[in-house]
Amino acid sequence: MKKVIFDTDIGIDDAMALLFLHHAPDVDLIAITTGFGNASVSNTTRNALYMKELFNMSAAVYAGAATPVGSALGEGYADFVHGKNGLGDIPITTPMCEAEAMPAAEAIVELVRANPHALSVVAVGRMTNLAMALALDPELPSLVKELIVMGGVFGYNGHRGNVSPVAEANIAGDPLAADRVFSSGIPTTIVGLDVTAETVMNEAYIDQLRQTAGASGEFIYQISRFYFGFYEKIIGKAECPIHDASAVAYLLRPDLYNTEAAVVRVATEGIAMGQTIHDSTRRVFATDDWRDLPTCNVCVGVDAPAVLAFYLSTLSEL
Ligand code: BDR
Ligand code: CA
Repeated sequence: MKKVIFDTDIGIDDAMALLFLHHAPDVDLIAITTGFGNASVSNTTRNALYMKELFNMSAAVYAGAATPVGSALGEGYADFVHGKNGLGDIPITTPMCEAEAMPAAEAIVELVRANPHALSVVAVGRMTNLAMALALDPELPSLVKELIVMGGVFGYNGHRGNVSPVAEANIAGDPLAADRVFSSGIPTTIVGLDVTAETVMNEAYIDQLRQTAGASGEFIYQISRFYFGFYEKIIGKAECPIHDASAVAYLLRPDLYNTEAAVVRVATEGIAMGQTIHDSTRRVFATDDWRDLPTCNVCVGVDAPAVLAFYLSTLSEL
C-alpha cells in the first residue's frame, strides 16, 4: 500500500488524477494539499473538499499557497482552460466539510516526519507548497520516499511548452519554487508534457469511462465538456491530454515509462522563464549551474495505450 500526499491546484485534469488515486486499490491517500494555479487557492480548496464529500474520501485537505515564492510567467488563473470554478463550471454546492487549520507546507513537513521514508508525494500544480515545506525543513529530501511531479517539458517526442515555446504551466507559475525542489535531492520523477501530451483521451474514451466508471465516469464526463471545448479551439480536435493522471500512472506503473537521470534546473527570468533544462552528460561546461547537483528522473517515453487502458480499468474496477 502506498501512502500518498496529493499536492494539487484542482483543476479538471487534477480531478481526473484524484479519482485515479481514489480508485487505485494500492493507494492510501492521506492528504490533499492545495495551491493556486488553475484557479485561486480558495477555489481549488473548495474543489478538493467538494470531491472529498462527493466521493466519500477520507483524506484530510490542507489549504496552501495563494501566490508563488518567486516571480511567475503570466498573470491570473487558467480559467480559460478549467472554467472559472476550476471544474469546468459545472454547478458545485458548498461543501459541508472544512480544510484543516494547518497550512499545506506545515502539513507536508508534519506528515513526512510522521512517516519517514514511507510517503509518496504526487505534485500536479505549482511547486510552491513543496518549496515552502523545504524551507521549513531542509531535511525533507532524506525523508520523502519519492516525489512525482507533473510539470515541465524537455523537447522529447517533439513536445514544446504550453505557456511559452519552452515553458509548461506548473513550472512557469512558480519557476523559483520548481528550481529549488528539483535541486533539493528529494528522489524526484518529472512527468512532463513530453509524455503527458502523448497520452490523449478522446470523446470515445470518455464515453467508455462514462458507461463503465459509475459516478466517477459521469463526473469526468461533466467536467471534461469545458476542457474538450478549450482543446477543440486550440488544436481543432475534441480530445485532451492526460496531464496530472500521468503522474499517478507513473506512481503505480513506472514500467509504462522510460526515464533518464538528469540534473534539472529551471530558468527563473528572461524570455526562457519557466523552461526546464536538463543535463545528463555531466560534462564540464563553462557554467557550474548543473554541476554536482542531485539528479531527477525525467520521463522521456511512455506506453500511452497502456496508460489509457490502466486508467480506464482502475476507475471501472474491471
Ligand atoms: C498542467 O497545468 C494545469 O493546467 C494542469 O492541471 C496540469 O497540471 C499542465 O500543463
Ligand atoms: Ca494541475
